[in-house]
Amino acid sequence: MKSVEILKDIHYIGAVDWDRRNFHGYSLSPKGTTYNAFLIQDEKNTVVDTVDASFAGDLLCKIAHVMPVEKVDYIVVNHVEPDHSGALPRLVAACKPEKIVCSVMGEKAIKEYYDAKDWPLHVVKTGDTLSIGKRTLHFMETRMLHWPDSMMTYIPHDKLLISQDAFGQNYATSERFADEVDQAELARQLSRYYANIVLPYSSVTLKILEEVGKQGWDVQMIAPDHGLLWRGAGVGQVIEAYRNFALQKPANKAVVFFDTMWRSTEMMAHAVAQGLSDAGTPVTVMSLKANHHSDVMTEVFESGAVLVGSATHNNGVLPPVSAMLTYMKGLRPQNKVAAAFGSYGWSGESLKLVTEQLTAMHFDVIEGVRAKNRPTHDQLKACVDLGRKVAEALQAKIASF
Ligand code: FEO
Repeated sequence: MKSVEILKDIHYIGAVDWDRRNFHGYSLSPKGTTYNAFLIQDEKNTVVDTVDASFAGDLLCKIAHVMPVEKVDYIVVNHVEPDHSGALPRLVAACKPEKIVCSVMGEKAIKEYYDAKDWPLHVVKTGDTLSIGKRTLHFMETRMLHWPDSMMTYIPHDKLLISQDAFGQNYATSERFADEVDQAELARQLSRYYANIVLPYSSVTLKILEEVGKQGWDVQMIAPDHGLLWRGAGVGQVIEAYRNFALQKPANKAVVFFDTMWRSTEMMAHAVAQGLSDAGTPVTVMSLKANHHSDVMTEVFESGAVLVGSATHNNGVLPPVSAMLTYMKGLRPQNKVAAAFGSYGWSGESLKLVTEQLTAMHFDVIEGVRAKNRPTHDQLKACVDLGRKVAEALQAKIASF
């Protein structure tokens, strides 16, 4: 694909990776991703961000489609994670830039990742600016959104905020703007990306949204480093979506995820779901044999209640449940009502172990249910009651939030 002029003299020079399916355990299936990068033609031609190393050739071709690569004067590195800086060595070699702009933490990371001792690194901090001709670039550090080195670049001349990972989606498309695609799918991809990447940094996200407000920037377009670009009404919508994501207000929605050995825990999962549904809380039931942990995590993020089922296995929790809880804990979801359930053959530790993990995540935990071998009618009724109790607790939590 060719470069795309997204604003006068500002070109999209990123790459669409239709085949990417995984970022260190986070499944992108089946949507792939994009690595977004931008070329600003001005007195000092400036590239903002690059792409994954495997797409370095694409990046250079897209620049060449606009102007000779050696005419690039400045490179801005908003984020050093290699999906955005992997092509940097080839671009630096090709254009020999006057300046490579990065944050103080970015300078350290660039030197750690690349043989950058002769690179003209130019360190900026929040509030610093850089004139590139008729435009001036404004920088804002956004440490831990997504890495310590992260920063954003705002260009008042074009009212354009290049936001690196923030406001992104892992969503490979031929379209470049958010208003050109199916809105329900876009919303799902935005939420999925937040749930699996940004969620642990929610408090940072709220501070950054506040900081963007304080800067008084008149943002009319947001260009993240993944997925589709936001313009028009989409700018306010995505900022509001991020504010709501970061606040993690509980929603009247539940997810029941589980793994089972001989279907007893599965029977309990369905009974728990029945209780939730009977009490007016919509519920999604997800077997960990059938669902990737990234999909389950998206449901966890969007749900106010999380119910976790595991049979006891070798005095512990079934490995897929253990892995899911580890993944979930790392992403630090908040403001959930939770409960555990599960079957056992003789020792029955899983209920206690899962309950301890849910408690350690600071959820409001309701005492769960366990059943020996096959759940009896009364035990299934106890599972239905558990679902009902969780729904009532969730609805009370929402009312008091
Ligand atoms: Fe898309 Fe934090 O890199």
